[in-house]
Amino acid sequence: MKIFHKKSDLIDALSKLRESKSSIGFVPTMGALHSGHLSLIKKSLQNNKITVVSIFINPTQFNNTADLTAYPKNLNEDCELLESLSNDIIVFVPEIQEIYKDGMLTNEYDFNGLDKYMEGEFRNNHFQAVATVVELLLDIVEPNSAYFGEKDYQQLKIISCIKTNVNIIGCSTLRDKNGLALSSRNNRISLSSIEIASNIFKNLNFVKSNFNKLSIENLTEKVTLNINLFDQMKLEYFVIADEDKLAPTTVVNVKKKYRAFIAVFVDGIRLIDNIALN
Ligand code: PAJ
Repeated sequence: MKIFHKKSDLIDALSKLRESKSSIGFVPTMGALHSGHLSLIKKSLQNNKITVVSIFINPTQFNNTADLTAYPKNLNEDCELLESLSNDIIVFVPEIQEIYKDGMLTNEYDFNGLDKYMEGEFRNNHFQAVATVVELLLDIVEPNSAYFGEKDYQQLKIISCIKTNVNIIGCSTLRDKNGLALSSRNNRISLSSIEIASNIFKNLNFVKSNFNKLSIENLTEKVTLNINLFDQMKLEYFVIADEDKLAPTTVVNVKKKYRAFIAVFVDGIRLIDNIALN
């Protein structure tokens, strides 16, 4: 496994490999890797000669310093996990100055309203920051394909809308045995609350099973009650939106595809999840 800290070194190494016309798959991450990340990397390894994984905690996409400071960092463990998958993975671990040489500025994108609700509504400037760093990373790696999780469905849609010539591939959400979506943030939640957090997915499944039977208002009411029933959990939002425009709705058009989106604080840690409904 090769680890690069400088983008010029990575670019040099990749340009040599590119000469052999090998396809490059890229998986951007913020580290603290778990099986969810690894599933994206496995997909890239299956479909490309070369796989690049970046580990970069992007400061601009965090809404508060406490969350940024508490974000888990364990490069050694991450490298061991990557090595357990393949010796050929190329890892890019840049310092902040390597990515943001002119200061930590974010570009202004027009996402056609995809960023208006849910994460975009509750996390100011989050998607401008995510899109900026992903575009900077894509410009360095210049992959054929890049892999993103449906766990962050709004992020996946928004990245698909940035103009690049990279194939953006969505990958399904990996969950623990109780259905809780794997997340680097889960480590910060007590074991007893992790059990309780499995109610997030239970509620999403309830919504899926009852999508054709109950109104969206009624479903929203039930989910709100069910989640807030637990002292350890506090619902931030529950939204049903069409997959295309990500606009929250209360009326169902049978021709459209819908998803339910949820954000919940568990032990004060913010978790998100979503499920396809039809
Ligand atoms: P991070 O949270 O580290 O996630 C990296 C990738 O792993 C994302 O595409 C995310 O959707 C995917 N992922 C996370 N948990 C998953 C799970 N349980 N199942 C499947 N995929 C999962 O998302 C980011 O980093 C950052 O915003 C980033 C895109 C790297 C830009 O900074």
